[in-house]
Amino acid sequence: MKHLVPKTFLIAACLSVGLTAKAEDGSAAWLRYAPIANAKQYETLPAVIVSRGESASERAAAEELRRGLTSMLGRPFTVAKNGRGAAILLTADAHLPSESYRIARNIHGLHIDGSSPAAELYGVFHFLELIASQRPIRDEKTQSPSATIRWTDEWDNLNGTIERGYAGRSIFFDNGHVRADLTRAGEYARLLASVGINGCNVNNVNADLDTLSPEHLREFARIADVFRPWGVKLALSIDLTSPQTIGGLDTFDPVDPKVIAWWQSKAAEIYKLIPDFAGFTVKADSEGRKGPSQYGRTPADAANVLARALKPHGGVVLYRGFVYNNHLDWNDRKADRARAGVDNFVKNDGTFDPNVIIQIKEGPIDFQAREPVSPLFAALHKTNVAIEVQTAQEYTGQQRHMVFLPSMWKWVLDTDLRAPGADGKPRATPVKSIVTGHAFPNADGSARMGGFISVTNVGLDANWLHHPMAMANLYGFGRLAWNPDTPVDEIANTWSTMTWGSDAAVRATVPKMLLGSWQVYEGHTGPNGIGTLTNILGYHFGPGIESAERNGWGQWFRGEKDGIGMDRTSAGTGYIQQYPPELAAKYESLATIPDDLLLFFHHVPYDYRLHSGKTLVQSIYDTHYASALAAAEYVPQWKSLQGRIDPERYTQTLHLFEFQAGHAIVWRDAINQWFAKQSGIPDAMHRVGNDPGRMEAEAVKADGFTPVDVTPWETASGGKAMVCHDAKGCTLTTTVQQPSGKYNVAVQYYDMWSGISRYELLVDGKRVAQWSADDTLPPAQFDAAPDGQTATRFTAQGIALHPGATMTLHAMPDMRSELEHVMPAAEANSQLRPRDYREFAPVDYIVIGPDGDLTPQ
Ligand code: GCU
Repeated sequence: MKHLVPKTFLIAACLSVGLTAKAEDGSAAWLRYAPIANAKQYETLPAVIVSRGESASERAAAEELRRGLTSMLGRPFTVAKNGRGAAILLTADAHLPSESYRIARNIHGLHIDGSSPAAELYGVFHFLELIASQRPIRDEKTQSPSATIRWTDEWDNLNGTIERGYAGRSIFFDNGHVRADLTRAGEYARLLASVGINGCNVNNVNADLDTLSPEHLREFARIADVFRPWGVKLALSIDLTSPQTIGGLDTFDPVDPKVIAWWQSKAAEIYKLIPDFAGFTVKADSEGRKGPSQYGRTPADAANVLARALKPHGGVVLYRGFVYNNHLDWNDRKADRARAGVDNFVKNDGTFDPNVIIQIKEGPIDFQAREPVSPLFAALHKTNVAIEVQTAQEYTGQQRHMVFLPSMWKWVLDTDLRAPGADGKPRATPVKSIVTGHAFPNADGSARMGGFISVTNVGLDANWLHHPMAMANLYGFGRLAWNPDTPVDEIANTWSTMTWGSDAAVRATVPKMLLGSWQVYEGHTGPNGIGTLTNILGYHFGPGIESAERNGWGQWFRGEKDGIGMDRTSAGTGYIQQYPPELAAKYESLATIPDDLLLFFHHVPYDYRLHSGKTLVQSIYDTHYASALAAAEYVPQWKSLQGRIDPERYTQTLHLFEFQAGHAIVWRDAINQWFAKQSGIPDAMHRVGNDPGRMEAEAVKADGFTPVDVTPWETASGGKAMVCHDAKGCTLTTTVQQPSGKYNVAVQYYDMWSGISRYELLVDGKRVAQWSADDTLPPAQFDAAPDGQTATRFTAQGIALHPGATMTLHAMPDMRSELEHVMPAAEANSQLRPRDYREFAPVDYIVIGPDGDLTPQ
């Protein structure tokens, strides 16, 4: 919803924030280089930067340092080739380990030494971060990255759309080609370099079949050119059928000599255009992509043919471990998608070439709000592995909810799989020790190649990831990839200071909000390891609980009359036995399974008593009320920072928090209603299904509105909404019963992808609020139905009411004739039935006063 904010208000807001807070659009991300409060502490820092390096990266490093220091310290810095007297010296030092830098002082000044031009850049960015966060400059020990692969994957399509992208269209592609203007791509590479990311795969893992055509390759080379100064190497996702689709061969069988030769000549063609090409990412035998199984070949056969073609040129293959059957038999109690990683890959352990890395999603399912870590990490002892996480927030609020993912990733990286060593005895093997190649080293004792990949999906939105807070995830990913031991509060604090400034109230508020946000999101979506409970057949955003059940996708939680949860014990699917014995024993036993993973592993009755002492169902009710409340509290917390942050980003973030507060209630009510119905166990605190102050649209006096059933039922209060098909508009009218006073009045309605309905709220005939239903809801794609994705609310604040007052909601649907046939995604997605795409101003309910229990549990 868009509030119609009077212009005078915006002007007043701008004036009130004073000079320090000029409008910003977020494009600078954490590299704002805002003037620091106490520049005096760095007054001895020499004003001359000496860099003899000729490469583009060294020039970029020197210029970055000049720009950052001048801006933050408020005095001019210059770059020179040679210097007399004290200087900041940027130097290459080939004795340092690969990609490493060191900051040290001596009589000539301050040295930032890098083992390579890119490493000099890393040193410079680190140095600027020290200044931005006003830390002292000391000699530091050599800083080296934890692993060689530190990439982002972008799921961009050549037509300019982005699969699971929530921040606008592609910065790389448009209309089947690489964009003419790649300024944003270059700026993105700078951001990546600033946190030590050294590779970027620019196209969707569901790759366009003609990705490797000579024409496209020539265009991709232009992206590599703008990445290069920042030390970011270009990678591409490829489809294994390319020898057929591009090459015209009659097969893509990876062991066929013609296919082998084709890949070799394709690799040579690529390296001629892009000499520092990083390599290929491969999604095969997964979600409809063809793969080696078509010829009875193994993943190793497929990966190795590519690896051998790339090897002479120094490239690598990231072969995705995300291989599973999406046509599982729901009636088979032993079937289990979570098993797929280990079942498909372990038999090939030791057969992958040294420049192949298996790219494993953090959990065995798919970026849920919480999953156990994938057992595949502990099962491959003779194969390189990397971890894949998802900054894009596909299942965690799609950049419309604030969810600080480094908290989750750190939990994953620190999880100790207790894998046996060579002597067969369990030992400490946290995920971070595996993906950095230390837990299962090469035969000569050296660390295996490994690493970190973030599916990021930045878009053309000025601020890259739509929610200003979402950028903390990209920043945090880079920091953890560089050093997985970095504490998350350090990440939150530094990012916050660099992004929002060093005002004391901001520093006290933002990191705290970030650090609690994963738990809040998990708490009002799918807790206890059940899975996210989103609509898995739609846009993975709003609640759609049973969409996970009774289909072949295998995201099941088996909510049945007797209880809920997947039985993955040895009596069930046996998945738990894929973990090393110590961890398997912990997960197998109800006595030791952590509450937050219970339903991932066990099927238990609804009144099962958790370690917390509560029954499962009561804990779910309580957690959802507490978490929706915590999400609502972001709004006043953020408002307390007004004037301490520039108005543009302040206002944008405020609107997102307001949206999140409403959507958290949608989630809370959907899940609680569903559990109450399913379990037959009422909420001991009488909140679920009992919403004082809430007036169902279908139950108040309606003029012109007609009731419709909402699907799934739990995404509407009472399962129904009212819609208006009358171009003149419709009204809902009610008589206020509350005592005289000022109230917040919230209208819960649905904001569809197309159409802009308009609403006004009147009290005794006088308009007290008006708004338009024109949110960029995250699907930012097609959803024609009132449901958990489109449910949203508008809250009119501080409305004066008295008993007997008439409150009227006047809704104007959007009946424009051109909307009638707008259905691009519906045509592409057979799961959506064609409907009418005008927006009929659907309203769920109106509520006066606080909505739901406001007592924290
Ligand atoms: C998820 C996501 C898909 C994506 C897939 C993958 O299933 O919804 O859009 O293609 O992951 O990682 O390959």
